[in-house]
Amino acid sequence: MTQKMALILTLALCFSLTKIAYAQMAPYGTEARQRAAALITQMTLDEKVGQLTQAAGLKLSGLSAGPPDDLIAQGKVGSVLWLTDVKEINRQQHLAIEKSRLHIPILFGFDVIHGYRTVFPVPLGMASSWDPEVEEQAQRWAAEDARTAGIRWTFAPMVDIARDARWGRMVEGAGEDPYLGAAMARAQVRGFQGGSLGMDSVLACVKHFAGYGAAEGGRDYDASYIPEELFRNVYLRPFYAAERQGVGSFMSAYMDLNDVPASGNRWLLTDILRGEWGFKGFVVSDAIAVGNLVKHGYAKDPADAAYKAFNAGVNMDMASLTYSKNLAQLVREGKISEKQLDDAVLPILAIKYQLGLFDRPYVDESKVEAMLSRPEGLALERKLAARSMVLLKNENETLPLKSSLKNIVVIGPLADSGRDIEGGWTVEGTFGAGSKSHPVTVLAGVKNRLRSAAPITYVAGPMPQREFPSFFDDFLGIQQLPPPTAEEIRDTLAKVKSAAASADVVIAVLGERFGMSGEYASRASLDLPGIQEQMLETAAGSGKPIVLVLENGRPLDIRWAAEHVAAILESWYPGTEGGDAVADVLFGDVNPGGKLPVSWPRSAGQEPLYYNHNLTHDPEDAPNFKSRYWDVSSKPLYPFGYGLSYTKFDFTNLHLSKTSFKAGEATEVSVEVTNTGSVVGDAVAQIYIHQRYGSASRPMRQLEGFKRLRLQAGETRTLKFSLGKEELEFWSPQAKEWVVEPADFDVWAGEDSTAKLHGEFSVTR
Ligand code: NOJ
Repeated sequence: MTQKMALILTLALCFSLTKIAYAQMAPYGTEARQRAAALITQMTLDEKVGQLTQAAGLKLSGLSAGPPDDLIAQGKVGSVLWLTDVKEINRQQHLAIEKSRLHIPILFGFDVIHGYRTVFPVPLGMASSWDPEVEEQAQRWAAEDARTAGIRWTFAPMVDIARDARWGRMVEGAGEDPYLGAAMARAQVRGFQGGSLGMDSVLACVKHFAGYGAAEGGRDYDASYIPEELFRNVYLRPFYAAERQGVGSFMSAYMDLNDVPASGNRWLLTDILRGEWGFKGFVVSDAIAVGNLVKHGYAKDPADAAYKAFNAGVNMDMASLTYSKNLAQLVREGKISEKQLDDAVLPILAIKYQLGLFDRPYVDESKVEAMLSRPEGLALERKLAARSMVLLKNENETLPLKSSLKNIVVIGPLADSGRDIEGGWTVEGTFGAGSKSHPVTVLAGVKNRLRSAAPITYVAGPMPQREFPSFFDDFLGIQQLPPPTAEEIRDTLAKVKSAAASADVVIAVLGERFGMSGEYASRASLDLPGIQEQMLETAAGSGKPIVLVLENGRPLDIRWAAEHVAAILESWYPGTEGGDAVADVLFGDVNPGGKLPVSWPRSAGQEPLYYNHNLTHDPEDAPNFKSRYWDVSSKPLYPFGYGLSYTKFDFTNLHLSKTSFKAGEATEVSVEVTNTGSVVGDAVAQIYIHQRYGSASRPMRQLEGFKRLRLQAGETRTLKFSLGKEELEFWSPQAKEWVVEPADFDVWAGEDSTAKLHGEFSVTR
C-alpha cells in the first residue's frame, strides 16, 4: 500500500469513527427515529402541536384548572407533569391511547430529584461525597422506583453552578465548581438513563439551561449577566458533560441571560446546543416560562411568545399552554414552517419510542408499592447519606462520641422533624398526597444508636419561620406560624440552660427548614433563622461540649459556632435514613469523608464567594497585604474542598511525568497519599492547576482532577491524574475559541483548594 493510500484510509477511518461516535451520542436509535418520522406523516397540525404541549395533570391553584382530559382525548397533549398518583396516571394514559386518534402515549414527567419514596440526600449533599458513584447509585435507585410508578421523565439533574449562597437553589445542584459539577452531571445521567435510553430508563432533563445560578443578588428568577468566556468556561461545562453523556432533554431556564430570556434565546438553544454540540434530543421550557416571555418584556403577546420560544429552539412548552393556543395559527400564517414543526416533534416521538412507551404505556399498579418500599433502599440511603456528610470542626477529638456517654441532651427544632430531614422536592411530599416515607430524625437516630443505654433529654424550641411565605407553601401544606412570644423564648432558653447544665454532651441540630432553601427561597442573610443561635449560645454557656449538626441547603453564617462549639457536622438534608446516618458518623461507625462543594462564607456580605476567581491584585497571603473588606476577612470560613476526618492524611511526592510538553499532549501527575492516623478513613485527593499567563487572566486555582479513596491506618497509595487538552484548555475571550496556550502552569495536590504540595510544568508550541 502506498503512503498516500494509507493516509486516505486513515482519514476515512477517522471520519467514520467520528460519525459512529456521534451517532452513539443521540438519545435514540435509527429505528425510533424512523418510526417517529413515519408517524409524523400521519399527524394533523393540532396533533403535532399537541406533542409540543406539556400540561399539568392535576388542579393546582394559579397553575391549572384540573386534569387536561379534553386535550388528551383530542391528542393535544404530549406530556403531563406533576402527577404521581399511579391510578390517575393510568387513567390519563388510557384516555390518550384509547380516545386520541393516533393513540400516542403520554410521557409523564416529575421532579425526581433525590429519590422517590426512599429519599436520598439533597444534590448538594450528594456532591459533598465527591464520589460520582454515590450520585449514580442513588439516581439509578430513584429511576427504578419512578419508572415502576409511571414517571418516565425526571427534571434532573440540576447542574447550575452556584457561587452565591443567598440563591436558594444552590441546594439542588453540585455547588460552585464546573469540574466537580460535570462529574456529578455525568453520573446522574448514567443513573437515570443507564448506558443508553431504553425500556428501563427514566429520561433525564438537564437544567436550567443556562446561567440561572448567577441570578443577580442571589435573588431567584432575577436576571443573569454572564460574559461569554465565563459562561463557556464555567456555567456551560456541566451541561456539556451531560450532553456528552447522552442526556435526552434540556430544560431552558427562566431568567434573562444577558438581556435575552434563556427560554427565548436562539444563540443558546440553537447555535450552541444544536449547532456546536450537536444535541439531538429535545428542549422543554421551565414551567410557564414560554408564557412569561411577555412578562419579561421580550414578547409582545402570547402569540409572539410562542413564536420567539419556538424559533429559539424550545420544543415543548411546560404548563403555559402558549404553544397549544398559538402555534398552529403561526404555522397557518407561514411564520413557522410545517418542516420546522416536524423537526421539533421528531425527537419527542423518537424518545417515546426509545423508552418503549408505545409498547408498554401503562403502569402495573400491583407492582408499585412493593417496588417503592424495597428495604434495601433504606440501607443504601443510610450509606450514601453518611458518605455525604462533612465534618467542619472537631476540637479535642470531641467526635466520635463514646457509646458510654451517660447524659445526652439534644436541642433544636429540626432534631425531631421528619419532614425537614428529607429536604425539598420529595416526590410524594410535593404536589402529591403527602409523604409516605418514614424518615428517621437525628433524635431518633441517636436513640436508635444508644438503644436505652443513656437517657436523652430533648428541648425542641420554636420552629423557625420564613419572614415571607413561599409560592409553594400552599402545595406543600406549610402553615406560617406566628413568631414565638417573649415568654416562649424565655421558657425555651431556660429549658436549654437547665438541660445543658447536667449534660455530658449537647447535640444541637440547627439549620433551615426544608422550604427555606430551594426554589423561591433566596435569602439576604445567612444567619441561623429563629432563635436557634440563642439556643446554641445558651447551651454553650454551660461549658459542656457542644456538637452542632447542621441541616441546611446552603452554607450559613456560623462564625460564632465555629469559634465556640467543639464539633460541627454538616449533614445537609440527609434523607429518609438521615438520622441513623448522622448517628453513624457521630459515634464513629462511619468515618466522615465528605468535602465542601462550595466555599463557606463568613457572612452573606462576602457573596458571591468562590475559590476559582482571578487574581487581580495582591493575594491575601502576600507580605504587604492589608485588606479587601475592612470589617471581615475576604477568605472563606472553610475553603472549597474542605472536610475533616477522624484520621489524618499526608500528601507527598508530587511527580510529573513531563515538565515540558506540547499543546495537545499530556502530563501525568502522581501523588502519594498516606493515612497517618490510627483508623481507616476516606481521603479525597484533589488536583488544582493555574495558568500563569496567556491571552486571558486565568483563575488562581481550578480543580482538574479528584479521587475519593479509602486508606487503612498507615497505608500509602499513589494516585495518578492526567493533565492534557481537556484539563488545560479554556475559551479565550480574545481568540474567541477553545485554546491550550503555551505557558507555565502550577499544579497543586492535596485535601482542599488551599493545598500546598506544588509542582510546575510548561506547555510549549
Ligand atoms: C420549576 C422549576 O424551576 C424546575 O426546576 C422544575 O423542574 C419545574 N418547575 C417543574 O416542576
